[in-house]
Amino acid sequence: PKRIRDVVRACDRSLEDYRSEVQRLFEAPLNAKSLLAMSAKLQKQFYPKLQASNICMLPSYNHTLPTGDEQGTYLALDVGGSTFRVALVELNGKKAGAESMRITHMRSFRIDNAIRSLKGHAFFDWMAEKIEESISGPEGKSWNNGSTLPMGLAWSFPVEQTSIRSGMLLSMGKGFLATEGTLGRDLGELIMKSCQERNLNVRMDSIVNDASATLLSRAYKDSSTRLALILGTGFNAAVHLPVSALAHSKFGQRPQSWHDQANHVLVNTELSMFGKNILPTTRWDDTLNINHTHPDFQPFEHLVSGRYLGEIVRLVLLEAVRTAGLFGGEVPEKLSEAYSLDTGIIAVFESDESASLSQACTAFQTAHPLPKPPTFSDLSFVRHISQLVSHRAAAYLAAGIHALWSLRASAEGLSPSCVGRVSIGCNGSVIEKYPYFKDLCQSYLDELTDLSGAEPHSVVLEPAVESAIFGAAVGVCCLEQRE
Ligand code: GLC
Repeated sequence: PKRIRDVVRACDRSLEDYRSEVQRLFEAPLNAKSLLAMSAKLQKQFYPKLQASNICMLPSYNHTLPTGDEQGTYLALDVGGSTFRVALVELNGKKAGAESMRITHMRSFRIDNAIRSLKGHAFFDWMAEKIEESISGPEGKSWNNGSTLPMGLAWSFPVEQTSIRSGMLLSMGKGFLATEGTLGRDLGELIMKSCQERNLNVRMDSIVNDASATLLSRAYKDSSTRLALILGTGFNAAVHLPVSALAHSKFGQRPQSWHDQANHVLVNTELSMFGKNILPTTRWDDTLNINHTHPDFQPFEHLVSGRYLGEIVRLVLLEAVRTAGLFGGEVPEKLSEAYSLDTGIIAVFESDESASLSQACTAFQTAHPLPKPPTFSDLSFVRHISQLVSHRAAAYLAAGIHALWSLRASAEGLSPSCVGRVSIGCNGSVIEKYPYFKDLCQSYLDELTDLSGAEPHSVVLEPAVESAIFGAAVGVCCLEQRE
């Protein structure tokens, strides 16, 4: 019966009808009222997690933000989903004539599937090997002059911190197997053990999640920073909250002295895990979720991050080929493979301003050739679907940020009109590079904060370039300042 229905649908509808249906489904939830309702429901989802959860709303040990005066030279490590970077970072504070933060040396190492599949200690041994290559290679001579290098780590995965320099390894996702046999072990110790086996003169002084690193690095430059966002392949946010917003039990076995000193704490929200049954989905999102290796684990990420935007578009296109005659009814090469449509390609469709969409055509044809080149109507269809998917992502993201901004305001006991300007440090390929994305998200945010009674432009998305590397270094200097 399903086949018969499909055939009927194929004969029944034009590409134009299909386009209207997709547009209706994607745009229906994007009015300000619905987005505000999503934000309110998200806030409700946050509260129980602030009371009890060991996978999200994870408090760090950073209870002060940098002043921007801190100075020093640090070894910064950034473990992302596809690169491991080792850098020497100079923080110059407000020293006249100097850049406030500067990378003086940096090595970048690709994390391919083979590295991602390294199990347990083997992964940390690989990290130590690359640290050694960086600091003791011919070029590395200048990295340290015999003294121990204080090291900070930005970790693009959840971690349950047990001190500023240690944390329990939690499930990594993103295809990494390093937690096999090491889950729950101390991340700082694992890295240091591998470094010690190579006699590296380094010391692990700070561990932060990459979203928290982004907040620290932006706060170093702009003291109004209270939130940070990562939106690239992955998605996350960090927020600076009063300690009283989290249940006492969330702070584990922290020493009394820590509690006595801490008014606030930097929280890694793992925002990607929220939004189930709140953010409206379409049948294509539901298909993506069902076929995912961890269905429902990071529902928000599935709707907004660079790993998924291309995939959602691909699923819509395949249905259009099958039922509405897109590409003359022929599936382009490889387009039937899951995750084959790169978000970079749909970004080209959105940035191409040529009348014939020629750049978009070349990008698409290179990755997904068709015997007959796509027509202009096919190409503009793909562009429209890409816009619908990315606009929805920008709107949902605004609802998520609004929810965290409201959470912070109410935890501080402030009404939205008194919160004042809040800067949000942003990093990641989608928020930094996807055409129009940041501006669009900003305009949704302006609308939502305005409706909540805030002053105009009181929440501002600010790019935080190289924030993981810089934030790893700022993490160390905040510690030095305190000790
Ligand atoms: C994933 C990880 C999170 C990280 C984010 C951005 O969602 O769970 O820890 O911050 O990606 O890299």
